[in-house]
Amino acid sequence: MKALSPLLAVLAIALLAFLAGQAHAGVVFLAVVVPYAAFAVFLFGFCYRVLRWAWTPVPFRIPTTCGQQKSLPWIKSASLDNPATGWDAVGRMALEILLFRSLFRNNRARLHDARLVLGDDRTLWLGALAFHWSLLVILLRHLRLFVQPVPVFVKAIDGLDSIFQVGLPSVYISDVVIVGALLYLVARRFRNPIVRYVSLPIDYLALFLLLGAVLSGLFMRFVVRVDVVAIKQFALGLAVFHPLITSALTPMFLIHLLIVSAVAAYFPFSKLMHVGGVFLSPTRNLANNSRSKRHVNPWNYPVKTHSYAEWEHEFRDKLKAAKLPLETEDAGKTTIN
Ligand code: HEM
Repeated sequence: MKALSPLLAVLAIALLAFLAGQAHAGVVFLAVVVPYAAFAVFLFGFCYRVLRWAWTPVPFRIPTTCGQQKSLPWIKSASLDNPATGWDAVGRMALEILLFRSLFRNNRARLHDARLVLGDDRTLWLGALAFHWSLLVILLRHLRLFVQPVPVFVKAIDGLDSIFQVGLPSVYISDVVIVGALLYLVARRFRNPIVRYVSLPIDYLALFLLLGAVLSGLFMRFVVRVDVVAIKQFALGLAVFHPLITSALTPMFLIHLLIVSAVAAYFPFSKLMHVGGVFLSPTRNLANNSRSKRHVNPWNYPVKTHSYAEWEHEFRDKLKAAKLPLETEDAGKTTIN
């Protein structure tokens, strides 16, 4: 049930695009107004959230660690799991961002014959890695629609991605991988009772929106063909704030564009913001060097303290009268702080 409303929402977006695409005014609205508005929300929302994270003070070193800290020279330390220097932290971040290293360590806990059994579970890591890398490849390939002349690296990625030359137009490896990965990520939320229990409609919404963008793109490539050259003209026009409304803006393309716009506008408000957040996560990007280096909180201000010795001195007579033990000498001479 939790998946039904997000699924209906994505289907409603597709239906809206299809219906609005039947009238000229609807085409202009969907092809010009909506993409600009969505891109503006994405850009400002993304920057706002990243800047807010960047401005949040992190006065203490709070990295999560899961390995030996650097200490004595003869004790082997784990530089990636417990980074001691900035470069160690860079290495840790690079592996996290490029290979999702912390997800690789994901373990599964199961009850087997009333005993807790811990085991490896690499499928989520593999699914997540497959999804993110193929999405990146698809987005980079899309640059051919927005940049003229098409950069060499985009052509190279395109060539490699369709290296098997299967079908006409040829099937991209990234397309097959992303569909498989997204279906796995959705199925995982349905199949695993624990994950199903903690899943919220917004978890499904992100997946369904991305699946909608991918499937509508595939539909355009293999089923309802679109005039890619004319769409490139339109996209280049959009990029230079001079949009051209042509007959290439078919309902199928508008469905793709509206779903993509919905992803863009929803992005800053959603968990998809982890793309920006991972770089600013102090539990990952800080070196754990609090023992070798003194970090003074730059926001410290002088605080008026009242030590126990001072307190005892203040109430000495009363404490004595009540025959309570005293810790400091008479005449206000303090022995403890
Ligand atoms: C989140 C963003 C997007 C995703 C995930 C996405 C996904 C896809 C996918 C999977 C395809 C199938 C073929 C391929 O892989 O190239 C495709 C095709 C296509 N997409 Fe996108 N797309 C996105 C954004 C856009 C945008 C902003 C445009 C606007 C110009 C666009 C225009 C097209 C066109 C014209 C095709 C057909 C290409 C062909 O027939 O070769 N896409 N898209």
